[in-house]
Amino acid sequence: MDDAKEATKAQTFEDLKPMLRPTGIINGVMKVDPEKCSSCGLCIKNCPFTCLEMDEDEHPRMVDTYICMSCSNCMIACPKDAMSMEQMFRVKDGFFDTGFPPMKMPLEPKDAEGKPAEWTPVERAVMERRSVRNYKKDPVPEPLIRRVLEAGRFAPSGGNHQPWKFTVVTDPEFLARLEAACQAVWAGMYPVFTNDETVINMVGMVPPGVFDPRTQRGLRNIAVKELPVFFHAPALIFMGGNSRMNDADLGGGICGQNMNLAAISLGLGACWSNFGKAVNFIPEIRSKLGFDEPWSVTSVLALGYPKFKQSGLVARHFRPVTWFRPGSAGPQTEE
Ligand SMILES: Cc1cc2nc3c(=O)[nH]c(=O)nc-3n(C[C@H](O)[C@H](O)[C@H](O)COP(=O)(O)O)c2cc1C
Ligand code: SF4
Ligand code: SF4
Repeated sequence: MDDAKEATKAQTFEDLKPMLRPTGIINGVMKVDPEKCSSCGLCIKNCPFTCLEMDEDEHPRMVDTYICMSCSNCMIACPKDAMSMEQMFRVKDGFFDTGFPPMKMPLEPKDAEGKPAEWTPVERAVMERRSVRNYKKDPVPEPLIRRVLEAGRFAPSGGNHQPWKFTVVTDPEFLARLEAACQAVWAGMYPVFTNDETVINMVGMVPPGVFDPRTQRGLRNIAVKELPVFFHAPALIFMGGNSRMNDADLGGGICGQNMNLAAISLGLGACWSNFGKAVNFIPEIRSKLGFDEPWSVTSVLALGYPKFKQSGLVARHFRPVTWFRPGSAGPQTEE
């Protein structure tokens, strides 16, 4: 039995504490070079976890209490290349010590003969894609939204089930109502997570990853309105999955990435919002959006024109890959 199943089998708060109240967190730390920094504040705006604030000299610093997930979104927004990662987020013991390999920048591309090569446009889009959470107010032209949807429609699916459907919202009034309704769901749910007596009721109802410190920070930020559910984006694509069709969640994921890359190719930015799945808890809105059983919202893709640069190369974990090559005596694990 794996750790997650073992932990959820237990019943008391003390038994579940390693999962519910993770310890051993080593926070990410971002460093600013005051010589380069122009005090523009874009890094602060682009941090989804409100980790940064201006110091007395108008340079960003980490706030007192924060969780930095080492996403590097602050860094890629910086027009002066003034930010760097001093320490990577990790958990060094307990339930969420899931292994935190070192972070590496993308490896240099090589051609079939192993000689230095250029990335293809698709590879470049994949590598430079970052979540865009700051949008211009400008609406997204409908023909472009249609092209993004088409990229989703032509995603692969197991058995060709195509277990998805989409609902697009661009009406500002309805967008505002959706934001308020979803925020209220999480604001109502957050005290359950923070209270030792009640958090135990969530065990088994949500996957263990919801208790990861990073997810809990996101939940907190939504609850206290420091992170909008839908980033005030001018367009939302609700992605629905059908529970009677195979792998609806995975299908939604593949669709979403197709749509995200298509959006980038059209000069748009995008960010997923799993907190937008709160509409599943609001029967009237869920039905209005067209996701009655057996449909439900699997995620939401926010779309719009980026307010400032929110793309660029970042480092990510490099989990060594094990290879079985022709003629090799056994597996070879790379460095
Ligand atoms: C399925 C999924 C759901 C996500 N939900 C949210 C969300 O609700 N709110 C948010 O701010 N970011 C959300 N994100 C964005 C992630 O935080 C982001 O992808 C991650 O931090 C890596 O950063 P990057 O996308 O800039 O590379 C989601 C991403 C995925 C793939
Ligand atoms: S790395 Fe991500 S979470 Fe950490 S300060 Fe920067 S934007 Fe915020
Ligand atoms: S984005 Fe860069 S230049 Fe602007 S405040 Fe942050 S560190 Fe300074």
